[in-house]
Amino acid sequence: MSDAANPVAEAIEEEALRRKRARGVRPILGLIPFVMAYKAMLAAAFVMLVVATLATLAFPMAGRRMVDGFASENVQFIDQYFLMLIVVAAVLGVSSAARFYFVSWIGERVVADIRTAVYAHVTHLSPAFFETMRTGEVLSRLTADTTLIKTVVGSSASIALRNSFLFIGAAVMMTITSPSLSGLVLLVIPVIMLPLIIFGRWVRRLSRASQDRIADTSAFGGETLNAMQTVQAFNHEEIDRRQFSATVEASFDAARSRVTARAVLTALVMFLGFSSVFGVLWVGAQSVIEGSMTGGELFQFTFYALMAAFSLGALSEVWGDVQMAAGATERLIELLQIEPQIKAPAHPVALPTPPKGTLAFNKVQFFYPTRPDAAALNGLSFEVKPGETVAIVGPSGAGKSTIFQMLLRFFDPQNGSISLDGVTLDQADPSDVRRRFALVPQETVVFGMSARDNIRYGRPEATDDDVYAAAKAAHIDAFLTSLPAGYDTVFGERGVTLSGGQRQRIAIARAILRNAPVLLLDEATSALDAESETFVQQALEGLMEGRTTIVIAHRLATVRKADRIIVMDKGEIVAEGRHEELVAKGGLYGRLAALQFATDDLVSVDDGITSKDDLSAVAAARD
Ligand SMILES: Nc1ncnc2c1ncn2[C@@H]1O[C@H](COP(=O)(O)OP(=O)(O)O)[C@@H](O)[C@H]1O
Ligand SMILES: [Mg+2]
Repeated sequence: MSDAANPVAEAIEEEALRRKRARGVRPILGLIPFVMAYKAMLAAAFVMLVVATLATLAFPMAGRRMVDGFASENVQFIDQYFLMLIVVAAVLGVSSAARFYFVSWIGERVVADIRTAVYAHVTHLSPAFFETMRTGEVLSRLTADTTLIKTVVGSSASIALRNSFLFIGAAVMMTITSPSLSGLVLLVIPVIMLPLIIFGRWVRRLSRASQDRIADTSAFGGETLNAMQTVQAFNHEEIDRRQFSATVEASFDAARSRVTARAVLTALVMFLGFSSVFGVLWVGAQSVIEGSMTGGELFQFTFYALMAAFSLGALSEVWGDVQMAAGATERLIELLQIEPQIKAPAHPVALPTPPKGTLAFNKVQFFYPTRPDAAALNGLSFEVKPGETVAIVGPSGAGKSTIFQMLLRFFDPQNGSISLDGVTLDQADPSDVRRRFALVPQETVVFGMSARDNIRYGRPEATDDDVYAAAKAAHIDAFLTSLPAGYDTVFGERGVTLSGGQRQRIAIARAILRNAPVLLLDEATSALDAESETFVQQALEGLMEGRTTIVIAHRLATVRKADRIIVMDKGEIVAEGRHEELVAKGGLYGRLAALQFATDDLVSVDDGITSKDDLSAVAAARD
């Protein structure tokens, strides 16, 4: 209370209130560019709206003529009036139907366009965006929020427009019919508008809360439904069920508050509206008794007054929708306005053709956006020559996969630079850069489409024969042809699920098909059994031939064949060289070799070390 006496605090509070109010419906203006794309449809809808309004406004006039006609016994006009009324009814029917069609069409079209625009925009955003924004939230904006907008543009906006037109028309006709009674109505209007404004603000706040709760529900539901096996394996159903029902209840509570607010709003408007009209009518009845007004005029005035009141009531109902849509638009525009952090410069430098396949990291330091305290790469420098095969080894969390993320330019380093064929990555177009790489990721994503299309993902324009050749080379052809629908078998959520090894071979087939100058293998054979590994290893060796390859590996067989090995730990390079040199040096590589590399690989090693124990002993001796 002491704040109220403080003029400065008061001014600040006022400013805050004003900002909130301005934010209230202004976001809906963000829809204008989407709606303006369909000017012809808009014009058609507008014309139909005007025609329908005029037709509606014609009824009370005919009514007055009739009432006064009865009084003056001019009954021969009655037939004509009724005929005219039927014509007007036909016009009203046709124009209302046309208006409904045009306006709904615009609503559906605008939502379709917004969905496409938001999806297209989101696909261009950098991984950094997806680190902080939940996919469920993006999905809920894409579906729930756009549906809200559809309701508003397609129906509420139509209701609002029709009723505003009707209200204005009825008000004008009221004034023409009886200026004095209309003057009285004018005095009454603030009584109706005030609660509308106050409650409207309340409804808007509750709407946003309600939408947020719905987003929470779908995010939580999506996350657990996608991992049902994990949920069930840990007997987590009960806990998740309770948690889900808690979020559902929270969204119910939020919805109930919103509905209550709107109910109160409707009751207030209805009551105040009608009782004001009746009050004014009472004054009108007195005028008819005094003889300063005819019965027909009072009838006409009453009709218009009821129209105005009804249209105002309808307006108050859709006002809540409009405010809800304002929240939805705000969230969508917010998404559309997020600038991708990684984008092509205004004048991208072209990468040299034909591609050479040289790579260079120069004192690269990088922090993930969600881990600003710990460097994932810390002053990393190395070069890779054309056609060279470099193996990267190191304990998990050393930053190996991060190197690939940097090469594909999913992130930019905070310090230092990375170049491909002599061009610094941030000077080139990211899609040009990515075209130069074929990645076999640590975790393969298999999409809910046919086997053929899953492999073709590597190069969308590849022919079926290319796909089969790649599948053969990746040793997945035999498995795929053994499936009931062969290459047309659908994978994914509602299709065949694949083992880790099969997924990996799909990923390898994609990389083979992609035929890019630089090959990035992230533990590409880790999920394969010994036999298929040998086969796939052969396929990969064929692929690596004449191509720059960086291979993150934990198997000695792969590492030993590399031209050079880079040993990483905690985001730094701790050693570099050939296998024999590194083993001789001991250190981290020696320990890794002893602990991580499969023992059966070691049997074939021809440098005198024939068992894991020997290697450990060597490592221990050098430390
Ligand atoms: N998207 C990410 N956001 C935040 N930290 C990450 C992310 N990805 C990896 N990290 C962290 O960066 C470090 C290096 O990870 P990574 O390159 O995946 O290691 P490696 O592939 O060598 O096992 C780890 O400490 C890891 O926790
Ligand atoms: Mg990794």
